Amino acid sequence: MTLNALAAALPKAELHLHIEGSLEPELMFELARRNRIDIPFASVEDVRAAYNFSNLQSFLDIYYQGMGVLQTEQDFYDLTSAYLKRAQMDNVRHVEIFFDPQGHTDRGIAFETVIGGICRALKDGEADFGISSRLIMCFLRHLSEAAAFETLAEAAPFLDHIAGVGLDSSEIGHPPSKFQRVFDKAREMGLKTVAHAGEEGPPEYIWEALDLLKVERIDHGNAALGDTRLVARLAKEKIALTMCPLSNLKLCVLEDVARHPLKELMQAGLTVTVNSDDPSYFGGYVNANYEAIIDPLELGREDIIQLAKNSVNASFLDAAAKAQLICEIDKTARQFI
Ligand code: ADE
Ligand code: ZN
Repeated sequence: MTLNALAAALPKAELHLHIEGSLEPELMFELARRNRIDIPFASVEDVRAAYNFSNLQSFLDIYYQGMGVLQTEQDFYDLTSAYLKRAQMDNVRHVEIFFDPQGHTDRGIAFETVIGGICRALKDGEADFGISSRLIMCFLRHLSEAAAFETLAEAAPFLDHIAGVGLDSSEIGHPPSKFQRVFDKAREMGLKTVAHAGEEGPPEYIWEALDLLKVERIDHGNAALGDTRLVARLAKEKIALTMCPLSNLKLCVLEDVARHPLKELMQAGLTVTVNSDDPSYFGGYVNANYEAIIDPLELGREDIIQLAKNSVNASFLDAAAKAQLICEIDKTARQFI
């Protein structure tokens, strides 16, 4: 049995997944046809050929354009269902899904349409695919603090369906401090907080996410390695990093996956997890992300089991659900001795 087979078979959680980034070109075409929207591509192959990115912004430009085909509640349902169906094949048992409401409300789509379709699919997905979920609403950091406050107000009637808030989009020039007051308000409303930090930005943005936004997890966090005080703090406070190797490669955060900081950070005592970020755009779902790092980082059997357990322990599941999944990880691992 190979280590790739072990990683693929282990039950796992995915904690860093933008639902809009799971829009496969085939579904993009179907929705464009259904909604009579023109897209600047002649074929599915044409779309895939355009996925050649030089940095985060070059991806975001295409990502925001791609989500334009999402119009109706059924579109958001179909998008989310397709992701869950695919995630089940990778033995994902729990997912914490990001969504970008401002990417839709700014195009005239009602907040209710977006959250309605996603939540209906998540509910059906639990029954059909055995995948539990939490929803995390992200603020687009290139937009203003006022716009984030408006989005938080729009979310207020739906708090039963939203576990937390996050921060994504163009990182450099938009530090976490810009959203300190929004995150204060979100925490007052009972929401958990996470933030993208240290993907392209400096370690200072990770410090700010911890000190000002009081996040429970850092999304990416690549820049932590190299700041020894920060690494020590993340280890001591057990703040997990949700890392995304194929995303980092595609967005040129790294030149070579063998230089990915995941293993070194793990050896320094951090809780790191493996995730797919925007799988349709970056060439792979969660198991492909494990596969991309196993050989180059010389991960061993125990590392892989630890990564799967980290994904469960760093999730927002309750203690009983975590214990159950950890038990299932151990049981599956025993079949691979
Ligand atoms: N939105 C979707 N994917 C993202 C990423 N990798 N970084 C920042 N914002 C994003
Ligand atoms: Zn992300």
